[in-house]
Amino acid sequence: MQHLISLEGMARDRLTALLDRAQQFAELDARARQPDSLGGVHVVNLFFEPSTRTRLSFEIAAHRLGASVVNFDAERSSTLKGETLADTFLTVEAMGARLFIVRHGDSGACEMLSELAGSGTHIVNAGEGRTAHPTQGLLDMLTIRQFANRPFEALSVAIVGDVRHSRVARSDLHALRALGCRDIRVCAPAALLPDAAELHGCRVIESTDDAVRDADVLMTLRLQRERMEDGLVDSLDSYYADYGIDQRRLSLARPNAFVMHPGPMNRGVEIESAVADGPRSAILRQVANGVAVRMAVMEALAGRHA
Ligand code: NCD
Repeated sequence: MQHLISLEGMARDRLTALLDRAQQFAELDARARQPDSLGGVHVVNLFFEPSTRTRLSFEIAAHRLGASVVNFDAERSSTLKGETLADTFLTVEAMGARLFIVRHGDSGACEMLSELAGSGTHIVNAGEGRTAHPTQGLLDMLTIRQFANRPFEALSVAIVGDVRHSRVARSDLHALRALGCRDIRVCAPAALLPDAAELHGCRVIESTDDAVRDADVLMTLRLQRERMEDGLVDSLDSYYADYGIDQRRLSLARPNAFVMHPGPMNRGVEIESAVADGPRSAILRQVANGVAVRMAVMEALAGRHA
């Protein structure tokens, strides 16, 4: 594997191997001696969209593997003078960087860079347009594996919210299907559902109460107002009433059900604070697992033993 662009089409064995390795990293104390498998590698965070957890967790993961990390600041770069993404990438690659962590608003940006990349250069998609966010998909699967008390085949997963604009949901759907999940429920206002072709293997459920009833996993998503034309949602209050995950809705799910959100959260829009901060929230575990998954991915692509 030279690049990680999408989870679409990734075989179950490969997914499972990445999750197994990430689980080992998750259990390794950050203060313990680390594998150093990226010693001497220059990692560049090439982010053209805002990020808190993804960028910082890639950075921490790279440090833990002994890599050096450079952060590209799009707002203060020659991007403002009109330099293209391709030219920016080739420029940094010419400096000797070999592992590029890329976040971009355009679908297809990572694929395009992977075609330009030399044979020893690796591209990791860190969130691209609406299409894919593969490391988030992996960290979500790792989190489910840790919290759920049954295998993927037997799990009921409810994905509620702005699925249409969510690259996270798309990567989660690919991963859930590959791991054998048979009960994937998708619930959103009609204007925030993706095209039917993207929902194969899922059941679209209109009412949030019905979608979460007896579910094992409740995944809620940020309402992506920056990717949305006006008018797709009537009002934030009505959205919360219809699709917000609150304590009452959580009580409809299975007794051991847990709640996930990729962050950043709009509290009081898609999730109630009492749920987000409550005992059945897996949200901060998702964040912690982000470091472990990104270590596993970077090691698999560019590690000395890869
Ligand atoms: C997500 C993203 O940027 O795609 N955040 C993340 O990486 N955890 C989700 C979002 O922005 O809503």
